[in-house]
Amino acid sequence: MPSGNIKINKPPPTPIVGPPPKSTKYTNVAHTIMVMSGKGGVGKSTVSVNLAVSLAQKHKVGVIDADINGPDDPKLLGVDKKSVDVRDNKIVPVSTAYNVDVISMAFMIPSEETAIIWRGALRHKAIQQFLEDVDWGKRDFILLDMPPGTGDEALTVAQLVPVVDGVIIVVTPQDLALLDAKKAINFAQQLKLKVLGIVENMSGFVCPHCGETIDIFKRGGGEEAARKYGVPFLGRIPLVPDVVSKGDQGVPAYAASDIVKKSFDTITENLMKSLESK
Ligand SMILES: Nc1ncnc2c1ncn2[C@@H]1O[C@H](COP(=O)(O)OP(=O)(O)OP(=O)(O)O)[C@@H](O)[C@H]1O
Ligand SMILES: [Mg+2]
Repeated sequence: MPSGNIKINKPPPTPIVGPPPKSTKYTNVAHTIMVMSGKGGVGKSTVSVNLAVSLAQKHKVGVIDADINGPDDPKLLGVDKKSVDVRDNKIVPVSTAYNVDVISMAFMIPSEETAIIWRGALRHKAIQQFLEDVDWGKRDFILLDMPPGTGDEALTVAQLVPVVDGVIIVVTPQDLALLDAKKAINFAQQLKLKVLGIVENMSGFVCPHCGETIDIFKRGGGEEAARKYGVPFLGRIPLVPDVVSKGDQGVPAYAASDIVKKSFDTITENLMKSLESK
């Protein structure tokens, strides 16, 4: 058999990653932080929105809903708008009742049920506009609520952000958190992004009737991951029914539940320490 017919399975090409490109257009923001996770549904949007409200007690804060396919942040912040204003050729971020401004694909689609079927290039353009064509003005913090996981989508967004202070990794508390945290840490390391810390979400449930704590998803996986991989542990948020019910009503649980407020204020405090130790 001629050797030309022999098929050799080549290893897949190494992904091309590197530090995000620098931009000159995005200089008024003191801290840009990505909120990400090793997988979907662990509470990135919940953490982004409530952390933003906590930070906004003392700072000027904006949220970029970088999850183009599942833009949840406006709803969680109680805004239901289907357009954005443009001033001097710049998009005006949408203000909310919580001293946090937000920009999201949700403002640009006709209804919540619309599926956004965009190829990479268009999604890329949308994120770029959220960063560069939105009049963020002077900001202390921009939080980016990242798309789920560590795949292509998250990589594209991460590479577009011009200046990043680092990432916050959200995990749930079970043993699998170790694996999920490791994936997210590897992602950050490949992009040369600092891991500002791990947040453990859905960490124990305090029974409203008897006050006993029930560890539905176990407890401590996030803290153990932080210890094991040598990154800061920022804090934990318990499972609180208000997070779901208030979220559905467009009220961040921070504004409705003492336990949630306390959890996020602790996370904010630890985040400030982590930023100072850069
Ligand atoms: N601490 C909590 N207590 C109770 N419910 C929670 C908590 N955190 C998140 N949830 C609920 O879990 C679900 C998923 O949360 P969220 O949408 O924030 O996750 P996500 O990581 O942003 O998801 P996706 O990957 O789809 O973007 C939501 O219904 C939310 O209300
Ligand atoms: Mg989300």
